Amino acid sequence: MPNRDERPTWLRRAPGAQPRISFGADYNPDQWPREVWDEDVALMREANVDVVSVAIFSWARIQPARDRWDLDWLDEVMDLMAANGIGVDLATATASPPPWLTAAHPEVLPVTRDGSVLSQGGRQHWRPTSPVFRRFALELVEVLAERYRSHPALVAWHVSNELGCHNILDFSDDAAAAFRTWLEQRYGTIEQLNEAWGTSFWSQRYGAFAEILPPRLAASFPNPTQQLDFARFSSNALKDHLIAEREILTRITPDVPVTTNFMIMGEMKGMNYADWADAVDFVSNDHYVQPGSGARDELAFSASLTSGVAGHRPWFLMEHSTSAVNWQPINVAKRPGEMARDALAHVARGADAVCYFQWRQSRAGAEKYHSGMVPHAGADSRLFRDVVDLGRMLRQLDEVAGSEPTAAPVGIVFDWESWWASELDSHPTDRLRYRREALEWWRALLDLGIRAEVVPFGGDLSRHRVIVAPILHLVSDRGAARLEDYVREGGHLVLTYFSGIVDERDQIRLGGYPGAFRELLGVRVEEFEPLLDGERLLLDGGLAGDTWSEQVSLTAEDVEVLLSYREAGRNSGPAVTRRAVGAGSASYVSTRLGEEGLRGLLPVLLDAAGLASELPEALRGRVEHAQRADADTVWEFFVNRTDQPVALEGLAGIPILSSGSDDPDVLAARGVAVRRRPRDRAAELDAAD
Ligand code: GAL
Repeated sequence: MPNRDERPTWLRRAPGAQPRISFGADYNPDQWPREVWDEDVALMREANVDVVSVAIFSWARIQPARDRWDLDWLDEVMDLMAANGIGVDLATATASPPPWLTAAHPEVLPVTRDGSVLSQGGRQHWRPTSPVFRRFALELVEVLAERYRSHPALVAWHVSNELGCHNILDFSDDAAAAFRTWLEQRYGTIEQLNEAWGTSFWSQRYGAFAEILPPRLAASFPNPTQQLDFARFSSNALKDHLIAEREILTRITPDVPVTTNFMIMGEMKGMNYADWADAVDFVSNDHYVQPGSGARDELAFSASLTSGVAGHRPWFLMEHSTSAVNWQPINVAKRPGEMARDALAHVARGADAVCYFQWRQSRAGAEKYHSGMVPHAGADSRLFRDVVDLGRMLRQLDEVAGSEPTAAPVGIVFDWESWWASELDSHPTDRLRYRREALEWWRALLDLGIRAEVVPFGGDLSRHRVIVAPILHLVSDRGAARLEDYVREGGHLVLTYFSGIVDERDQIRLGGYPGAFRELLGVRVEEFEPLLDGERLLLDGGLAGDTWSEQVSLTAEDVEVLLSYREAGRNSGPAVTRRAVGAGSASYVSTRLGEEGLRGLLPVLLDAAGLASELPEALRGRVEHAQRADADTVWEFFVNRTDQPVALEGLAGIPILSSGSDDPDVLAARGVAVRRRPRDRAAELDAAD
């Protein structure tokens, strides 16, 4: 693993270069004739582009046959970029193996759960654990690293591309062999594995590791712990690939940072990025908006989680889209202002680079209808003018570069293992959605004007006055103890239904639910009562729960009931409880309240924690508020959540940017405003008490 102190933490820059918010795109000049490149560079300069990611899908061009290499074109691209002051985040080009490789070695192709072999002809058709693929890929990495090690354009390495986007779960024989090795390392003996997997059930007992397979399509539900371990193994197998490439890069170019683009967005759940973060020198993320009413808030949620994964250090927005994508059922174009707003909303959450897929919209191939910075219409287009505008706005924000998001009063815990485990099959309901629940809390907090962050469970909990840990289904004893310490030391913890239920082996914590947190919360549940579609249980105050309910008994005298169920004859017991513990408190929410219900409940929980919105009343809900700071200065970001202008009244600080508005006191529809003020550490400490 990289030693943080010895590795570069951001793009390699010329000595004395001023920090800036970088701007750029994936650049695929190999899809275009040479004469287009000159226009590209002229337009990049016009737009203030300073970084491009090159050669991501160029393997077949770079190595057209087993023993032929063609790098002259790439030399020329690198030289052209250097001559124009544009840095290259150079891909290792290993994302998509060329046809000659898969024709000669079909054994690198991934295999699905039902045994189908995936074909070449798309992209990313390789097994993460294939020794043959690894050999070819590492050879390519070495060739590129040696050739460009001293090239002045080289500012970072871009390992592969979106590792796991299409090949996270591979059920091949290579995967089976690697899975067995991984299991042997994890459990030591087959008896321990049998114990962990609970194989006394359904005659699943193994006599030797050699008998174990990935959870391939079976006659009925595969063993749940086998599935969970396979999810862990699969995430780890790709992380191993990342490390294998990075080892070559760091050996040959120790001064060049290595990154790879994560996909913290939507339902991308296979890669445990909290676990991957230590394998890169800085975190990069790709984010694509899924249209719908919650799209903007989901972007902020993902951006905040990316910052949490990055340990709150600046991170790199490697890809998003200037307008429509091509891979959704209906690909919605961005409305005026949305391109800038989306980009700046990532900056608000700690991004120090704003890049797109891709520079020039393709004219051929599967992505020809995906927007780029230069659209099919050419530079004489609203879209390109917006790109140039955004480049200008980012220059206005250069002073923010290097600063970090400040600790928000509320932290929402996000945990990949609980995501995986809580959504396994053969559960009380298949309607439960881990990420949706977290997002609902996030949106309710935004609606109330409360500044929040999304944080991986392993992060520093003490940053936050209130921690919400939705559906923390799987928790180790250590994890449960960390939360208990957090509470005793003065934190206010909120847990929801289906939390603390299983340990790391996906085995039930006996004695009543919510197992690991029963004592802390002072509640006990004997049976889960999931609800049918459309069924809602009434609660106090006109609230209602759906998806899940429980009969909650109180096991300690000091538990306060905040809300009860109001369904005579069915459930009239406690629905939401709170208990003062040590210097803090632990609350429990036993049903899914949804965004609206949480909006009703949260003021009670926040009040008890002494927490109120930092925003003037008129801005609450209409504006998302985020902060970045360095030692002396705080930059306040205000993102308009509505399609109407919002008057920015009662705010401190000097306006330094207001996208889409000439008046710094008016936040344009879909606009973002940034204000600067001196940092007041004493006031921060007071607020934290
Ligand atoms: C990403 C990928 C890019 C491009 C983009 C389109 O998954 O890294 O190469 O395909 O999506 O949205």
